[in-house]
Amino acid sequence: MTEASAHIPVLLAEVIEAVVLERDAGGTRADVIVDATFGAGGYSRALLDRGAQVVAFDRDPRAARFAEAIRRDYPNRFHLINRPFSELEAGLADASQDGCDGVVFDLGVSSMQLDEADRGFSFMRDGPLDMRMSQSGETAADLVNTAPEAELIRLFRLYGEEPKARRIAAALVRRRSEKPFTRTLDLADVIEQAVGGRRGAPTHPATRVFQALRIAVNDELDELESALDAAERTLRPGGRLATVTFHSLEDRIAKAFLTERTGRLPSGSRHLPPLARGPAPSFSLAFTGALSPQQVEIDANPRARSAKLRVAIRTEAPAWTTEPEGRRT
Ligand SMILES: C[S@@+](CC[C@H](N)C(=O)[O-])C[C@H]1O[C@@H](n2cnc3c(N)ncnc32)[C@H](O)[C@@H]1O
Repeated sequence: MTEASAHIPVLLAEVIEAVVLERDAGGTRADVIVDATFGAGGYSRALLDRGAQVVAFDRDPRAARFAEAIRRDYPNRFHLINRPFSELEAGLADASQDGCDGVVFDLGVSSMQLDEADRGFSFMRDGPLDMRMSQSGETAADLVNTAPEAELIRLFRLYGEEPKARRIAAALVRRRSEKPFTRTLDLADVIEQAVGGRRGAPTHPATRVFQALRIAVNDELDELESALDAAERTLRPGGRLATVTFHSLEDRIAKAFLTERTGRLPSGSRHLPPLARGPAPSFSLAFTGALSPQQVEIDANPRARSAKLRVAIRTEAPAWTTEPEGRRT
């Protein structure tokens, strides 16, 4: 394992203010807040400091090393669950909870995952072409070496928004027929050659393909959709949902979910019959749009530059889904 710098929590003060209710201050029970993306535990510790009970999730078994000190400081108010956050309900049951008062998502990978070369997330550090947060299942090498060319093109376009998807996929397929990919830097070099070098581009030419592979290997977008449905089912009325996203694909999912569940359905055309009304809104927005970090935070932590925070409040209305798979009732 290479030395990793500790993860600096993004929008920490804003997230904590958004989800801590303190309606039970001095009352009978502490609010139960789900930290869906534990990482190094920055949010969890701040929530515990504010008196909440925290049920944290991380699918990465290596995150457990950051839980020991927190558990020592808060032996009765903290649980870390090693499950994907789409299994929110099962994880809450593991922690003997039947609902929650807040759910926070801080999406993507942690600084530790990026910095540890053996995780294979970085095109800047040589390591095995892995990218699995959970350290189980199909690796990025499996995907790059076996997916049909058309599938690679689709992934690079859809998850990487890569304009040169076709050219890159063709180069990968040509190269893998001679020698399969096993290392991150080897893949990054082949991508760089396929697009004709860096040509003064501000980002490395492999950036978008690495993002696409990471999203595909970890099924990140389906995970988020399922987890938002699960948050709706488990949040008690008045409870808060906060999402911190880092790229447009994630943010689009969070925004579309909140647009729908707050009842802001498209108004339709005046030439057509009115659209059918959906179920009663299950959320109201805490504020319109998304909050971005202040420049001073971006200067201190460049990783924060693309962060967007959205916050909504659970209403009394029933959840729109009843099934863990997200099937509509
Ligand atoms: C950006 S980091 C979170 C950092 C954290 N807020 C902190 O302050 O240290 C994201 C973490 O979420 C985890 N993660 C991402 N997707 C996940 C999923 N679907 N289920 C569970 N954990 C996930 C990653 O393994 C990573 O550790």
